[in-house]
Amino acid sequence: MILDTEMGKQVTQLIGERRSHPRLEEPAPDFEVLDSIFSASLRAPDHMHLRPWRFLTISGDDRKHLGELFVSHCKDSNPNAQQKEVDSAYAKAFRAPLIVVGIASYKSHPKVPDIEQAIATGGVMNNIGLAAYAHGFGSVWRTGAHAVSQVIKQGLSLIENEEIIGFLYLGTPTNRDRHIRPLVAGDFFSAWPNNG
Ligand SMILES: Cc1cc2nc3c(=O)[nH]c(=O)nc-3n(C[C@H](O)[C@H](O)[C@H](O)COP(=O)(O)O)c2cc1C
Repeated sequence: MILDTEMGKQVTQLIGERRSHPRLEEPAPDFEVLDSIFSASLRAPDHMHLRPWRFLTISGDDRKHLGELFVSHCKDSNPNAQQKEVDSAYAKAFRAPLIVVGIASYKSHPKVPDIEQAIATGGVMNNIGLAAYAHGFGSVWRTGAHAVSQVIKQGLSLIENEEIIGFLYLGTPTNRDRHIRPLVAGDFFSAWPNNG
């Protein structure tokens, strides 16, 4: 553990400044940076160290396959989908240069219910977003209908005990200056039982 007050302040400031970046462009972090981000992110809290997760990375031309899955989902959920909607579904795979699909792979354990394993997987996802932000990259976590679509789950080869926790879109923000409203700790934290 590094006991460095300055570093502590900087890390805390960085956590407080993090925001999502829905609009992303090339480049994504290179292999070396990504590898360090992913390795660090895996240190999320994980009850009984089950490592109940796996992650798919989709980039470059491979995004075409994801686009095709989004189209299959679109047509499956709405057989009357117009060409415009189909095109828009395909384009969603190209909203960022890199997409990380976070998958909870539930393990059977008497002390660790699935929800804890989903939260642990989400912890890794959040760490990836934060670490990417620390490197000057942006990300946005998306779920929606794609995360629960049987067509997409099958296309990504998820098995029965697996669930998509999110699609983390990663890349370089097109706009770094989006205003964020600061949140006030006192609005959400209170001492118990004697507040104040
Ligand atoms: C589990 C989870 C699922 C999310 N799913 C979506 C989504 O499908 N679409 C979306 O626009 N935002 C989604 N968000 C919210 C964004 O990732 C983002 O947090 C939100 O737009 C607020 O922006 P901020 O992170 O800059 O405060 C999701 C967030 C979480 C934690």
